[in-house]
Amino acid sequence: MNWLRDWMLPSQNSAYARDYDFMYMSLVGLSAFFFLLIAGLCLFFVVKYKRRANDGPTPHITHNLTLELVWSIIPLIIVIGIFFWGFHGYMNATVAPGDALEIQVTGKKWLWTFEYPDGMRTINEIHVPVNKAVHLIMTSEDVIHSFYIPGMRIKQDVVPGRYTEEWFRADQAGFQQVFCAEYCGKSHSQMLAKIFVDTPAKYAEWLEKGDEFTQTAPLKEVGQKVWENRGCKECHSIDGVKGQGPSFKGIWGKMEMMSDGKPYQIDANYIRESMMYPQAKVVKGFEPIMPTFQGLLREREILGVIEYIKSLQ
Ligand code: CUA
Repeated sequence: MNWLRDWMLPSQNSAYARDYDFMYMSLVGLSAFFFLLIAGLCLFFVVKYKRRANDGPTPHITHNLTLELVWSIIPLIIVIGIFFWGFHGYMNATVAPGDALEIQVTGKKWLWTFEYPDGMRTINEIHVPVNKAVHLIMTSEDVIHSFYIPGMRIKQDVVPGRYTEEWFRADQAGFQQVFCAEYCGKSHSQMLAKIFVDTPAKYAEWLEKGDEFTQTAPLKEVGQKVWENRGCKECHSIDGVKGQGPSFKGIWGKMEMMSDGKPYQIDANYIRESMMYPQAKVVKGFEPIMPTFQGLLREREILGVIEYIKSLQ
């Protein structure tokens, strides 16, 4: 039956997926068995009891108590058994183990953001250790989305104004695709995220240094990615247009008047301080509304932002 399962279902990447598939294939098998039994008997009786020319009048049979009890009680026992089997699986899928790694998930048109317990945030991409339970606590900022990982066999609506949860324990390292499974507008089909299941050593390295891109790409490109993905671009334009914060274009090396009335030159130390302690020196004319990025950016990402700003002359 494995070939049939592989043909019908995506690859299995957690113990839960195996339990789930076993139950699913058992129900398909059970349904197929009864379909063939009932349809086969129908056909058989149609042929066997076809009225022939020399038959007498049709006998009048009202019912058969034994037969009726058999075809009621046996299916009843089967479906009650399926209920408890399914309920057990449902509880298993619903209640995350207490030692799980908790990741906050936020859906918004049209991306997924993730926040780790230490405050690190990622967009459309998470890394998780293999063989470790991962508990997702999810909400939406706008409409209803649905966080769907086919390889783990989990799918749960992500609803504005409330929290929903799901969990998985990946049992092999590799890549898992996440889909949004609730139509949420124009770019619904592109609302994708990637899950990288890492060995414990690789996971620790990722936590510290970031992915391959962050570790090896030129700093300017690392900075550009941070600007795009970590929320900088919501307030800081790169074309000189004033937003909630100053545009990045042309600020490198400039003397700016701060809100305390003193001028200050925009250099690497100023940019770094502004990311870690945004309220320390606010450029005059802007509100002190920037959140801190302390603990959220890795060293190369901070350097990257500085290099990126430097490049925007
Ligand atoms: Cu989000 Cu569809």
